[in-house]
Amino acid sequence: MPSRTFRTNSADETVALGRSLARDLTGVVLLIGNLGAGKTTLAKGIVEGRGVDSADAVSSPTFTLIQQYGEGEPVFHIDLYRLDEARQVEALGIDDLFRSGALVILEWAERFPELMPARRTEIRLRAVSEEEREIVVETV
Ligand SMILES: Nc1ncnc2c1ncn2[C@@H]1O[C@H](COP(=O)(O)OP(=O)(O)O)[C@@H](O)[C@H]1O
Ligand SMILES: [Mg+2]
Repeated sequence: MPSRTFRTNSADETVALGRSLARDLTGVVLLIGNLGAGKTTLAKGIVEGRGVDSADAVSSPTFTLIQQYGEGEPVFHIDLYRLDEARQVEALGIDDLFRSGALVILEWAERFPELMPARRTEIRLRAVSEEEREIVVETV
């Protein structure tokens, strides 16, 4: 699939983009970008767009590592920022999550490429200015 590129000019616009992308996303989604790029902000919109929770309910899972939103068709939001070793990541049980077919959104997962499935969506976020973000969506 060719990549799609978006520009947003506020956090609200990034949430709205996440809402509109939500229905098209399946499986494993890597959110890739620097601190403050808008990964968690986009995740808010994705969770809301899936209808499993409100954007306000979504916060950075940096300390909890894995957050689950919804029950029937849950969305998992994982932040690997605080983990250094592959075995710590494996111990989270991500393989079972990947196999479950649920939508799994990950931040900082590009640091563990060997643990990620070959088939995945990569969303790259880049701050163009204080308020502008370039967001590239690519399914590989
Ligand atoms: N266009 C934009 N999209 C997303 N966030 C933006 C945008 N403009 C400003 N921001 C701000 O940038 C920060 C992004 O934070 P966050 O989503 O937690 O980033 P990350 O998870 O990538 O570290 C927030 O403070 C948000 O208000
Ligand atoms: Mg974050």
